Amino acid sequence: MSSYYSRDRNWHPRAYYPDYKTSVLRSPQKALLAMPTGVAEETSPVFGQDILGPLDHDMIHNFAAEGASAIGPRIIVYGRVIDQDGHPIPNALIEAWQANAGGRYRHAKEGYLAPLDPNFGGCGRTVTDDQGRYEFRTIQPGPYPWPNGPNDWRPAHIHLSLFGHGFGQRLITQLYFEGDPMIKYCPIVRTIADPAAIDSLVAQLDMDATVPMDARAYKFDIVLRGRRQTVFENRLEGL
Ligand SMILES: [Fe+2]
Repeated sequence: MSSYYSRDRNWHPRAYYPDYKTSVLRSPQKALLAMPTGVAEETSPVFGQDILGPLDHDMIHNFAAEGASAIGPRIIVYGRVIDQDGHPIPNALIEAWQANAGGRYRHAKEGYLAPLDPNFGGCGRTVTDDQGRYEFRTIQPGPYPWPNGPNDWRPAHIHLSLFGHGFGQRLITQLYFEGDPMIKYCPIVRTIADPAAIDSLVAQLDMDATVPMDARAYKFDIVLRGRRQTVFENRLEGL
């Protein structure tokens, strides 16, 4: 049984970052322990296309009344899910959630004064195809203020949760948009130390994938943790 590459903690966000206030209390106070994984963690969960409804990937319509659609700039978010070795990851479940075009979430504890859109729910899901490809249709979310410092705003973003082929590949992340001037001011973005790591979270406008008179497209590839290749019965596993 192979295991996954260990996490590069210089690439991932810092757990403790006082400018992001809630990180202070919820970050680990003691040294982390390494937990061995077994077959269950390395081979599950497993998802397939059969869990999806026809509009699950379409947040413009999946919460809208018959004949209606969500308000906001219509976009396609698409890309590939691959591992650290560049192998495509088929059947990866991607769940997405986001604020509406005004920057408001549909959530009981949401307090921002921007209005709800009755035709926008703010969540969707899809499963990658046999080449690791995925696509969402949605509206571009708005930036919103949040009670952290005296005047902190989140850049426009979409939250993403991914299941790969084992819990070792689990990833929860956020997607930002090329050219957004708010990215550099965000304390949550700043928990990431390496500018190249931040760039990897910025979806790129792709005019070639735009649908004329309908939606602009943003391309966003996602890399999940790779498996170490181990010598097994005189051959390299996975080769
Ligand atoms: Fe958010």
